[in-house]
Amino acid sequence: MKNRRLKKYLIILLLFFFTQLHAQKFDGLAPTPPMGWNSWNTFQTNISEKLVMETVDAMVSSGMRDGGYTYIVLDDGWMAKERDSLGNLVPDPKKFPHGIKVVADYVHSKGLKFGLYNCAGTLTCAKYPGTRGYEYQDARNYAAWDVDYLKYDWCNTEGINAKEAYTTMSKALKTAGRPIVFSICEWGVNKPWLWAAPVGQLWRTTEDIYQVFDSVHNWGTWNALSVMRIVDLNDSLRQYAGPGHWNDPDMLEVGNGMTFNEDKTHFSIWCMMAAPLIAGNDIRKMTKQTSDILTNKDVIAIDQDPLGIQGFKYSDQDSLQIWFKPLQNDEWAVCFLNRSSKTRQINFNWKDENIVDNIYHYQLNKNVSYSMYDVWSKKNIGNTGKAFKAKIEPHDVLMFRLSK
Ligand code: GLA
Repeated sequence: MKNRRLKKYLIILLLFFFTQLHAQKFDGLAPTPPMGWNSWNTFQTNISEKLVMETVDAMVSSGMRDGGYTYIVLDDGWMAKERDSLGNLVPDPKKFPHGIKVVADYVHSKGLKFGLYNCAGTLTCAKYPGTRGYEYQDARNYAAWDVDYLKYDWCNTEGINAKEAYTTMSKALKTAGRPIVFSICEWGVNKPWLWAAPVGQLWRTTEDIYQVFDSVHNWGTWNALSVMRIVDLNDSLRQYAGPGHWNDPDMLEVGNGMTFNEDKTHFSIWCMMAAPLIAGNDIRKMTKQTSDILTNKDVIAIDQDPLGIQGFKYSDQDSLQIWFKPLQNDEWAVCFLNRSSKTRQINFNWKDENIVDNIYHYQLNKNVSYSMYDVWSKKNIGNTGKAFKAKIEPHDVLMFRLSK
């Protein structure tokens, strides 16, 4: 009897060590899609200690921190062009005269978390030192600087296997011992959704975003994608996303030049897709309209719903789309999206529709009348007992939370 019990304990112990050996990433770091701010979309490599500190202050005063935005991430350009004689990465002494730890400390002192960027290749996309061959050393430095988030890019990686490269860095972070969210920025080239769930918490699904609604931006050697083009690509990948492992359709362009309706639509659809919400605008100078979009707690709650289900496109007729997202407690989010340049009439008779999520097996109950709460106008507008009729402006959305 005693022997049997001992054997049982031994097996449990062995199983525990085995799972630890094979667990590549830190678990539990992103139960809902990560939220924060990243320097790239507005500042590219023109970043500094001053910019971070001012942005942190603005995150607090604008209500973004309290709205759930947590990570302040420095993208490409924070380093000097050369490593030191021991192979360590060196923060650019002009941009970060007091080093990176001081900046991380400031971010932490305001109740936020701190992120950095590097690249799996020999050089980053902006030609700063890449991590290839220095994975464990760089991970140790990030841990020592109290970094909480690493965005890891895919430039200058000729001949490298993506799964291997990202797995190596994931293991290096794990070995360094500090829980760090690992944001895989491989642009979807090697289908990370098929292999990255044990490796990182989020993976980019497409090329870079650009602040246009529905076209392509030509950068000469490559095309950046509009908001709607990214939606089309990300939509087909919903079965791969979930708590702890998210499809990342790239950082937000809200406040960076599109119209108010377009920004609102961009934000709404990112939330319907359970996308990471990483703001990419100048928080210090944003307008009230931009701030109202980014801090709309009812829309954010749809993104951050604990079920963690990426919503689906239910119908698409002549550029009028209808999206659904199952939420916890048998609630749903619905988003009517007008992609066209004309005002459109919605005429949606709930009784005639069969709203089923075939992947996650949820169904909108036809026998129940759900109340419809407009998450943008903040009004209850009726229920699903009768047909929904409304006008929708070009490039705009109407978005509701449905509750029993
Ligand atoms: C790539 C990434 C961007 C940004 C830049 C930095 O293009 O996809 O998000 O990090 O590199 O150089």
